[in-house]
Amino acid sequence: MSPEAGLLLLRAQHLRCLDAIELIADPAQNIIVGKNGAGKTSILEAIYYLGRGKSFRPGLASMLIQYDQEEFNIFGEVAKPPGRHRLGISHGREGRQVHFDAQAQATLADLVAALPVQIIDPEVHQLIQGGPKGRREFIDWGVFHVKHDFLGAWRRYRRALKQRNAALKQGMAKQSVMAWDPELIESGLVIDAARKEYVSAYMPLMSSISSELLLNEVICCYQSGWANAGSFAEALSASWDRDCNNGATQVGPHRGELLIQSDGQPARNRLSRGQQKLLSIALVLAQSIFVARSQQRKVTLLVDEPAAELDSAHVHKLIEILSCEELQLFISTLDLDALPVNDTARVFHVERGALSTLI
Ligand SMILES: Nc1ncnc2c1ncn2[C@@H]1O[C@H](COP(=O)(O)OP(=O)(O)OP(=O)(O)O)[C@@H](O)[C@H]1O
Ligand SMILES: [Mg+2]
Repeated sequence: MSPEAGLLLLRAQHLRCLDAIELIADPAQNIIVGKNGAGKTSILEAIYYLGRGKSFRPGLASMLIQYDQEEFNIFGEVAKPPGRHRLGISHGREGRQVHFDAQAQATLADLVAALPVQIIDPEVHQLIQGGPKGRREFIDWGVFHVKHDFLGAWRRYRRALKQRNAALKQGMAKQSVMAWDPELIESGLVIDAARKEYVSAYMPLMSSISSELLLNEVICCYQSGWANAGSFAEALSASWDRDCNNGATQVGPHRGELLIQSDGQPARNRLSRGQQKLLSIALVLAQSIFVARSQQRKVTLLVDEPAAELDSAHVHKLIEILSCEELQLFISTLDLDALPVNDTARVFHVERGALSTLI
């Protein structure tokens, strides 16, 4: 893996408590140390926003704008060997603006492709505890990076689904609603196949990381958003009455689910909260490493307060697994001494939204 990889430089302005920060990143380990409320999570949030166009914390994007300011701006330089890219995103009254190199019509997909970024934060167990939407979004990030026909199919599917649902809501004739079915089925099958292939390819790595962290047997599989027995086309035609009653399409990839089982039971029922957290960490970690390996590039992994809720043996084990060449790490902590970090890690200190480099 190239020594120049991942996020090279980050600038953030007027984002939460950050007035204006500049961070020159290490390609391997970056540690952000500071007291409660200093701005550690906000720095991770800036990186995540640049590579995802949204925060990992709940709430509207406007909540990220610093009080008394009109907009926030995030700028980054990313190494994608053999080249470099310049990424920018801002959010203000006019909504979101995206910049990618000198492109006139940059889209969020350009940023997502240029900066693959994942987060492990104290809410990571929501991946198991929360609803299927979070799990679909989680695997779709991986599928997007690995399967290059996915984005086009997903855009076509989303458009056809929106139109079909609008027709259902307006009570239009069956023929007008079903006019969208060929497009929905064709793009839906591409999405379904891509998700299935992706999940089964990523499963072995996930199992091995989860057994290192958790020692339980974990199985993940993707369940299509329609009954196993038939095809998508059959399921769509069989759900006509339900679709009409609900004013929305009831079957399809938008109803797909990532099933996660531990020792033969749904992980959500079987595992303690701490174990769910470890399993969710294994899911994120395996996905980050899997994408990095299949794309031959680093994935930037943000880890917010790893010591929260994990015992010290698990924190040590986690940092050991995290310290691999596929990942560029940004780890936030209240206490540097509680983390078994590398001697070569770059350490930043944040205090009242201002940043300084310690090492
Ligand atoms: N829109 C905003 N404008 C200005 N400050 C904000 C805004 N939103 C949140 N803050 C403040 O930013 C500060 C930093 O928050 P952040 O969550 O980054 O801190 P932290 O260092 O991660 O703290 P902790 O250790 O408690 O997790 C908090 O004091 C918060 O109240
Ligand atoms: Mg925090």
